[in-house]
Amino acid sequence: MKTIPDFQKWKVARTPITMVTCYDAATSKILNETSVDALLVGDSCAMVVHGYDSTIHATVEMMAAHTAATRRGAPDKVIVADMPFLSYRGSVDASTQAVSELMRAGANAVKLERSKGNCELISRLVEAGIPVMGHLGLTPQSVHEFGGFKMQARTDDAAQILLEEALELEEAGCFSIVLECIPGHVAESVTDALAIPTIGIGCGPGTSGQVLVINDLLGLDSRFQPPFARRYMDADQMIVRSIEGYCEDVRELEYPGEGEYKP
Ligand code: KIV
Repeated sequence: MKTIPDFQKWKVARTPITMVTCYDAATSKILNETSVDALLVGDSCAMVVHGYDSTIHATVEMMAAHTAATRRGAPDKVIVADMPFLSYRGSVDASTQAVSELMRAGANAVKLERSKGNCELISRLVEAGIPVMGHLGLTPQSVHEFGGFKMQARTDDAAQILLEEALELEEAGCFSIVLECIPGHVAESVTDALAIPTIGIGCGPGTSGQVLVINDLLGLDSRFQPPFARRYMDADQMIVRSIEGYCEDVRELEYPGEGEYKP
């Protein structure tokens, strides 16, 4: 069984780390049978599961429910749970309460966005034995500051600031950092400068591993395809075909058939 300390071993051994998002027990039960290294209960669930237009709508209650469901299906996997919007920016007590709900729901670690104003909390959590994953670059909870879901760290100055933030997160005790939508050369130089691993999304191959939103990987919404996401199946079309097959069978009195009921 893989554990949080393995992340450091993977970085040292240059073993690429694999991570996908997961939000429910049905999916995590399947993922539990795969070799994927870790599951991220991302606050992207506010968008891809609940249909909101940003992650700002995720709450601690929502994240705890999705974390608990994911854990029930995947007892063997490392699970990282996202701290939702503003849940770590109030008092230490309130932030600790939010962390406690996610850890009790079954997370092995929590992830939070940006470094400024977070390092003291991160150090406290790490001191308390709670592994913390950082997240820099396109941090979706700051979508309004960025003016949309746009690539970050595009200038030398911005890349330098991002590097400094990554070093701050490492110093505060993060065991890993997600880098989202920054240029490949920036992601690579940040990865080289850190002792801890980076997990990239939309930043090319120069990170210590990759994470994808499972809906993008499976093609659950073919109308929405981030340019960096590789789709491994067209699940939405397969679902449409299956449902149409079922409807046709019911209408043609083909279902239920012999062996599918007791006469
Ligand atoms: O919420 C999420 O799915 C994430 C990944 C995109 C890294 O934070």
